[in-house]
Amino acid sequence: MKTFVRPAAVFAMAAWARDGAFPPDVMERLHRLVDVDPALTLTAFDGPDAAAALRDAEILITGWGCPRVDATVLHAAPRLRACVHAAGSVKELLDPVVFQRGLTVSSAAEANAVPVAEYTIAMLVLGAKDALTLARGYGSTGRLPNAPQSRGLLGATVGVVGASRVGRLVLARLQDFGVTRLLHDPTVTPEQAERLGAEAVDLDDLCRRSDLLTVHAPALPETRHLLDDRRLALLPPGAVLINTARGSLVDTDALVRHCAAGRLTAVLDVTDPEPLPPGHPLLRMPNVHVTPHIAGAQGREMRRLGDFATAEIGRLVRGQPLAGSVSADDLALIA
Ligand SMILES: NC(=O)c1ccc[n+]([C@@H]2O[C@H](COP(=O)([O-])OP(=O)(O)OC[C@H]3O[C@@H](n4cnc5c(N)ncnc54)[C@H](O)[C@@H]3O)[C@@H](O)[C@H]2O)c1
Repeated sequence: MKTFVRPAAVFAMAAWARDGAFPPDVMERLHRLVDVDPALTLTAFDGPDAAAALRDAEILITGWGCPRVDATVLHAAPRLRACVHAAGSVKELLDPVVFQRGLTVSSAAEANAVPVAEYTIAMLVLGAKDALTLARGYGSTGRLPNAPQSRGLLGATVGVVGASRVGRLVLARLQDFGVTRLLHDPTVTPEQAERLGAEAVDLDDLCRRSDLLTVHAPALPETRHLLDDRRLALLPPGAVLINTARGSLVDTDALVRHCAAGRLTAVLDVTDPEPLPPGHPLLRMPNVHVTPHIAGAQGREMRRLGDFATAEIGRLVRGQPLAGSVSADDLALIA
């Protein structure tokens, strides 16, 4: 891989995303590697400022709020060699032409997976105790429950759908909780699952056996409604479904029916549609807990994204292999 000599870099993201991901100490490290002007952070690729910045840019440091990078942007940036994304998925951000022109692409999805895994562990602990539903009941009645339904995570069976970056972190963190770990992922062999501490099972089996099921596969044509009415019906009564992946992986209407019948509890950080319209049944059921897509990096956690992107730029400058490299071929399998 070619090395760069103190390349010119340009930020393209919302100002809040830049400030969150690149607090002063991270910015200082970045400045040692590249020539970048944080005062010029692009939120649009048209206009004279953008044209001047793109003309010299060798690295585009993108993040949340960056407009789509397409052929027009590449035309305006003839020296551009790399897009380093200080956030998760690059699918919506980068036009296929970016890959076709041979640009190096890196994503900080691995860094964004950490808070999602932490959120998931928190929700598995609370879900297993029925804590969120009991808290709601307590809030409305002011009485301690007579016969708490709390079951606890110890000894439970947790089904993980997808050995993705998030899914692998969840499996690893679950090692300390005394649970049985099941994994469904068509790309993973039983031996690989075993090395992740899990038993590889098909999805129907995983549904039948999971006290708690957590979804971590990417949104792909083949994962749409992966958890449909039939599979939701396979879950044991009282099971908890956690979805931090994408709403499209679960059939919303079927989930509403199963939760309304009291068979399932759901913790949803993502929904289909998103946002849910006001008054949607999922927002009104006592056993459904919806958070507004906050499992990924928030506030202080965002510095992980800038840390990762800065380390990537360091590797790029030194001509070393990237940790978050994304190729056109990866896109069919990743988030
Ligand atoms: N809620 C949030 O704030 C938030 C933040 C980050 C990521 N996410 C979502 O979390 C999920 C995981 O993200 P990631 O970056 O870890 O994903 P990833 O890109 O690492 O996922 C790719 C992996 O998914 C697995 N996979 C592919 N097809 C599958 C299938 N049909 N069934 C099961 N597994 C399959 C494979 O192991 C593949 O390597 C994605 O849906 C992503 O959009 C949500």
